[in-house]
Amino acid sequence: MSVPARTTVAIIGAGPAGLLLARLLRRSGIDSVVLEHRDRAYVEQRQRAGILEQGTIDVLRECGAGERMDREGLPHNGVELRFDGRGHRIDFPSLTGGRAVMVYAQTEMVKDLVALQLAEGGPLLFEARAVAIEGLEAGQPSVRYVHEGREHTLACDFVVGCDGFHGIARAAVPSDVLRTFDREYPYSWLGIMADVPPSSDELIYAHSERGFALLSMRTPTVSRLYLQVPNGTDPADWPDERIWDELDLRFAVDGDWKLERGPITSKSVTPMRSFVTEPMRYGPLFLAGDAAHIVPPTGAKGLNLAAADVVVLARALARWHETGAADLLDAYSDTCLRRVWRAEHFSYFMTTTLHPDPAQSDFDTRLQLSQLHRVADSEAAAAELAQNYVGSPFE
Ligand code: FAD
Ligand code: PHB
Repeated sequence: MSVPARTTVAIIGAGPAGLLLARLLRRSGIDSVVLEHRDRAYVEQRQRAGILEQGTIDVLRECGAGERMDREGLPHNGVELRFDGRGHRIDFPSLTGGRAVMVYAQTEMVKDLVALQLAEGGPLLFEARAVAIEGLEAGQPSVRYVHEGREHTLACDFVVGCDGFHGIARAAVPSDVLRTFDREYPYSWLGIMADVPPSSDELIYAHSERGFALLSMRTPTVSRLYLQVPNGTDPADWPDERIWDELDLRFAVDGDWKLERGPITSKSVTPMRSFVTEPMRYGPLFLAGDAAHIVPPTGAKGLNLAAADVVVLARALARWHETGAADLLDAYSDTCLRRVWRAEHFSYFMTTTLHPDPAQSDFDTRLQLSQLHRVADSEAAAAELAQNYVGSPFE
């Protein structure tokens, strides 16, 4: 693939944020180059999120990337909260004016966007690692990157850091400009993929004194399950039988519900973190997705926030491209941060309400249960949860 030495928008990272941004820009007639450190197989197989909120579903459809999602994705109209041995269903459409979510794995969304980009988009370079962002103060931005053992420079009008939490873009903002906010949690998730049909049609978020558990899925024949575990847990300490036995205990419910077991095909441990960067822009450099913010996964918001950021940015760049007006670009950081902080709060609320902190007292546990009962008993409290879960319309 021949790569120009200059483009309008240099995008670092081909995760959901970078790929969706490239697609949206293409639709507005703005050229871009996407630089991705990893190879294609790695990017397409990295197991991560599974829930698309309504705004993400809508934007994928609008930009022509929703065809397989609509065929293979599983629309979900609710979730179950399980605690004190009982399940309580939260119905999304009736509490949110008809909104819902879709189970469609991040791996599949990424595959769809990669295929479209390679077929009809601008250059997408795998195994191209950005090593420096230069010329920001001078207003002549460029990205230096290494591809096939050689260093290249990509000059551009804008750089967008879609390079995830461990990328280089955030570090290009001077430390006296950047403010960060963060929280770590005293637990992680052990996630498994299992070749067994999901034991419930809808997701189950379970609070138990033994720890949190989540039942999710990828397809009608593949289950995705998570267990709260201590930080630093080695998946090797969790043989398959131990995982299923612990899931059984945490999902225990009055009545005859049964968790079906099957072959476990992958295991991994993910720490939980909340993190926000302000501002999300420095001159011609914009940060989007995990490069700018992280949420603990309990609210299923990470991928959806990444999509929301790039929708705001693509509209702002389209306006600049068409009219020369920079007002939406100037508003980018504030516009995104409003949604980001709402998602941070919701993710924090879901996390701290559903996970027993190893150091917490019986009093704290009673408060968690009281909050869960409130959501189960009060339509107003259930609506608050449902509206946050399905997300507000983009922009
Ligand atoms: P990423 O998907 O991180 O993409 C960044 C890309 O940039 C990567 O492909 C990376 O290789 C590339 N890159 C980095 N540095 C460079 C460089 N120097 N040069 C070129 N390319 C570079 N969310 C949920 O909602 N539910 C979940 O269950 C869930 N599980 C998760 C598990 C893990 C282990 C992680 C890390 C995240 C999880 N998330 C989950 C969050 C969700 O997956 C992210 O919010 C989402 O991937 C953000 O997309 P992104 O495009 O901003 O970043
Ligand atoms: C997932 O299916 O991976 C998933 C679902 C809901 C969450 C987090 C992860 O809150």
